[in-house]
Amino acid sequence: MAKITEYSKEQLEQLQKELLAQYDEYVKSGLKLDMSRGKPAPSQLDLSNGMLDALEDYTTENGLDARNYGVLDGIPEMKKIFSDAFDIPASQIIVGGNASLNLMFDAVMRLMVFGTEGNTPWGKLDTVKFLCPSPGYDRHFGICERLGIEMIVVPMTESGPDMDVIESLVAEDESIKGIWCVPKYSNPQGICYSDETVKRLAAMKTAAKDFRIFWDNAYGVHPIFEDVKVLNILDEAKAAGNPNRPLYFASTSKITFPGAGVSFVAASEEMVAEIKGVTTYQTIGYDKLNQLRHVRFFKDAEGLKAHMQKLADAMKPKFQIVLSTLEKELEGTGLLSWSSPKGGYFVSVDTLEGCAKETVRLVKEAGVVMTGAGATYPYKKDPKDTNIRIAPTYPSVEELTKAMEIFCVCVKLAGVQKLLAE
Ligand SMILES: Cc1ncc(COP(=O)(O)O)c(C=O)c1O
Repeated sequence: MAKITEYSKEQLEQLQKELLAQYDEYVKSGLKLDMSRGKPAPSQLDLSNGMLDALEDYTTENGLDARNYGVLDGIPEMKKIFSDAFDIPASQIIVGGNASLNLMFDAVMRLMVFGTEGNTPWGKLDTVKFLCPSPGYDRHFGICERLGIEMIVVPMTESGPDMDVIESLVAEDESIKGIWCVPKYSNPQGICYSDETVKRLAAMKTAAKDFRIFWDNAYGVHPIFEDVKVLNILDEAKAAGNPNRPLYFASTSKITFPGAGVSFVAASEEMVAEIKGVTTYQTIGYDKLNQLRHVRFFKDAEGLKAHMQKLADAMKPKFQIVLSTLEKELEGTGLLSWSSPKGGYFVSVDTLEGCAKETVRLVKEAGVVMTGAGATYPYKKDPKDTNIRIAPTYPSVEELTKAMEIFCVCVKLAGVQKLLAE
């Protein structure tokens, strides 16, 4: 396709006229579509409905009545499924409630209030900073913002966050206490951390003795096009002599039911004991019936894997629509670049500088709500105003096809407007 960024003023004006005519048609068609969050489609949720009838009895394998109080850290059979699926020893896993975000918030709060390994609680320090590989997950950044933790943007590369930047920052600044990582099929770019990235994170010298890696493996078992292997940070950190550095999180939110799934946190055995020492004041135990429901439904980690294959089959056509429409409409125009994820939940795109907000605004006027531009950066401030997250799962194939057509017209329109203004 012709490079629109090299068009003459006359060519741009002609294109703008055509695009505006197309855009007006879309606005008139009165479409209403919400693509703002990465939610599974109802048809994906239906694939887990069997779970709702999966409880014929309530007794766990160690003889507990799952309807009653007991067990802080999860029933053994749920731990075993997570242990096998994520390759983490069961003794290092605490099964939680319905949301890993809750476990992450609790983890940061614990460090703020109580500290770890005898170090000063972060809340008593004048300044606490976190590294935030960006674009990233807005709710990680939200936790920091709410708790007054200063966020430092770290650029992403094809192999994970820029490790040169990270290593030089953490080596010198004792107030840098943590980093948010989504190591596999990252939100939003779908990037998988390379072996070298994981090893460097595990082994790097940090000025802070209580530096923590918040390893949010939310998409750890979510391949669509290719099952990429990412090294286990718990193993690598132990091997590098920093066993207590990583706190590992995941959940079945994007496996069964978001908001009604099962989460877990994993860490070294020493950190597991520390976490349990506080959790015991928060709850007598999480929802064991839901854990048992999940166990009965999946049976084992192989069952979970087979379920993920069904989800991948359902999601693949939607990712293909997004990627093929972008290719057809924008390849070679110079107006947009995009990620090609092998799994996960999102496609990330970058417009010309200063065009993301305007693109999302135009799309919204035409009836399609997308994740706000800027949301993928700390403080919702994308310094170049280029990044937009596309969440293909929720709409139907027909709706998504239409939404992507509209999106491409809006990308071109915002781009042409910018080029003309220059
Ligand atoms: C990277 C990441 N972490 C965590 C979550 C939320 O997980 P949960 O529902 O377990 O809180 C999401 C949901 O979109 C996510 O993208």
